[in-house]
Parts: sequence; C-alpha cells; structure tokens
Amino acid sequence: MIAPPHCDRRTALRLAGTAVIGAMAPGLARAAPPSLAQLAAAKGMRFGSAVAAHAGGGVANPRYAALMRAECNILVPENEMKWQALRPSAHAFNFGPADAIVAFAESSGMAVRGHNLLWNRPKWQPAWLEGYDFGVRPASAAADLLTTHIRTVCEHYHGRITSFDVVNETVLPEDGSLARTAISDAIGGTLDTVDLAFRTARAAAPGVQLVYNDYMSWEPGNEAHRAGVLRLLEALRKRGTPVDALGVQSHLIAQGAAPQQRAWRDFIAAVVAMGYDLVISEFDVRDRGLPRAIAARDAGVAALARDYFDMMLSWPQCRDVLVWGLCDSFSWLQGFEPRSDGAPTRGCPYDGDYTAKPLRAAIAAAITAASPRPADRLADWARTGQTIAS
Ligand code: XIL
Repeated sequence: MIAPPHCDRRTALRLAGTAVIGAMAPGLARAAPPSLAQLAAAKGMRFGSAVAAHAGGGVANPRYAALMRAECNILVPENEMKWQALRPSAHAFNFGPADAIVAFAESSGMAVRGHNLLWNRPKWQPAWLEGYDFGVRPASAAADLLTTHIRTVCEHYHGRITSFDVVNETVLPEDGSLARTAISDAIGGTLDTVDLAFRTARAAAPGVQLVYNDYMSWEPGNEAHRAGVLRLLEALRKRGTPVDALGVQSHLIAQGAAPQQRAWRDFIAAVVAMGYDLVISEFDVRDRGLPRAIAARDAGVAALARDYFDMMLSWPQCRDVLVWGLCDSFSWLQGFEPRSDGAPTRGCPYDGDYTAKPLRAAIAAAITAASPRPADRLADWARTGQTIAS
C-alpha cells in the first residue's frame, strides 16, 4: 500500500475544522457556527467553493477570504488553473495566481481541488492553440504538449492537491458525442486524448483523486448529454483508464419544468455501478425561471437545492460538495446568464452583502440529514493510488 503524499483525510478534516473555528472573524461571517465545513466534516465529507485570486471574488478580498475560512474546508481555483490562465504560450507557465489560492487554502487548513488539466473544447482553450502548428509529427507533438502540461502542473503541486479535474466537459450536450480540439485532432481522437490525460495524471500525481467533470444535469433536455457521459465512462472503464470519480458540476436551473428525478437517479446509479465516486464540483442555481421578488426566489432556489442534495447525498460515494462561489455578487452567473428582468441572480448561498440566504440553510440541512460517509470507502484511490476498477 502506497501512503498518499498528502496528510490523511481524517487529519485534514480535523485541521480544517479547527481552522474554521479559529478563523471566524467578528462581523465578517454572520452565519452562526456550526459552519458548513464543520457539518460536512462530522459526516466524513467536505464543503467548499470555487474562488479566484483577485480582489473581487478572490482570496485577495479580505472579507471574502474570511467567509471562505469560516465556511469551507476545500477550495478550487475558479479560473487560475485553466490553460488560459496557466499557459500564456506553448513554452511558458504562469503559476502566480493559482499559487496564491493554494497558499491561502494551505494557510487556512483547507484542501485544494485542481481545475482543470484539459478542457477539451475549442472555446475554452487558449487562443494560441487555435490553428497551432504541431509540425511534421503532429500526434507526438500534441501528446508531448499535453503530457508536459499535465506533468508540470502535477509536479508543481505535488502533495498539495487532493483531487484533479483531469478532463473537463468533453461530451457535447446536443448529441453526446465527443468534442474535438486542435490537440485531440492532432493526437488522432478524443478518447485516446482523454485516456492519455488520465494516465499521465495518475503517473504524475499518484494518490490523487482523478475526476472527469461535466455539466450533464437533471433538467429535461439533458438526455443526450447524460447518455454521452455514460458512454464515455464505460469506454474509459473498458480501457482501464485511471478515472476515480465523476465530477457532477450541478449548475442547476430553476425553471418551469420539473427535474427528471427518476432519470437522474438512474444516471447516477449507473455511474456508481461502474465503480466511480462522485464529486459535486460546481453547485449553483440559475434562477431565471423564478419570480423577481426576493423572498419567493430565495425560497425556490433553496427548495430545489434541498431536493437535489438529498438525492445526491443519498449516495455514500459523494463526499465533497463544492459551490461555484459563495456570494451572489461574485457569481459567474451575473455575466454568463443574466436574468431577463435585469435583477441580479441569486444562485449562491450568500448574497452580495455577505448575508447567508435560505440556500445556505438548505445545504446545511441536507448535510445534517445525510448519513455519515462509510469509512471503508474512505478514498480507495488515496489509499492505493489505483482506481477501484483497475
Ligand atoms: C467559468 C468561470 O466561473 C468564469 O469566470 C469563466 O469566465 C468561464 O468559466 N463549468 C466549468 C467552470 O467547468 O470552469 C466554469 O467556470 C463554469 C462552467
């Protein structure tokens, strides 16, 4: 048995719990203890958020940083570990902003997830990769670019990152097929590219949880996306690709049509049956289908979230819950998907004034109601450095 390079998870949780109490700055975090991190830790789980490096929704904003310390025991950089941020060119790395987040998390006793080593969608790759000249041997040049990237990032954060989104969103929602990029075309296929990414990550970061992360969801209209993700996960299992978990992004949409609860349960059951663990990696709620009035909107968001978390946490394979930002004011949804009535969206646990909303209470209640995560499933990947199925 190979000991994980990072401290063992129980120790990490204990440390994080201590940090949460110690870091409660008066007047900054208004939610009374227990924090979401403490509630999660009591169940063998972790609660956390995406965070930026800058002074808006980032660790350089003291008030936001205090809220992170108060509520979280795991963080994930929102953009700072993506190729677009880390790779100004094919030959350079810029670790500064990502390092600032990792240092903040460590000094606060929090774990860190890495997001992501390959976002295999043209739109989300750096501009210099578009039409990139891979030379006379494109397959080996592209493989070299990809594996050098993964090795460099994994080695840079050796022992400091407990879980990596190795590949992000490579299943196309419209028909479930696999996306193509300059890199995957040069390598000669997306499945080969995904396989290479995971194998490289496993070798470079043994003992780290390796995740395929995507946004298939439970709303109607996600059928092809869910089916495509299942096909990909099956294909990866068949190849023996070292994937430990599915990252279920969980950008929920509150809309008129009811969620497809049964289809969603079947989908998650199929994922778990293949031996994958689950990570709720990017939770938030798009509230465009809810009324503008704040009390009704917040109640609608909270009710939807409670249903969702109750279902998701019924799977013991789900131990980590991360939201995509703690405060509405810094949420990507304000820009990505503004409401048609112009009102700021309210899909995060705290509002723009750092005040806890009903969504925070819903998350707290769902974690409190969840059964403790069984110790025997305590991170097989962390104990052995191998996938469960391999
Ligand atoms: C988003 C960030 O929040 C934005 O700031 C950025 O402009 C685009 O990306 N799925 C993911 C995340 O995997 O990386 C995305 O983050 C949100 C959707």
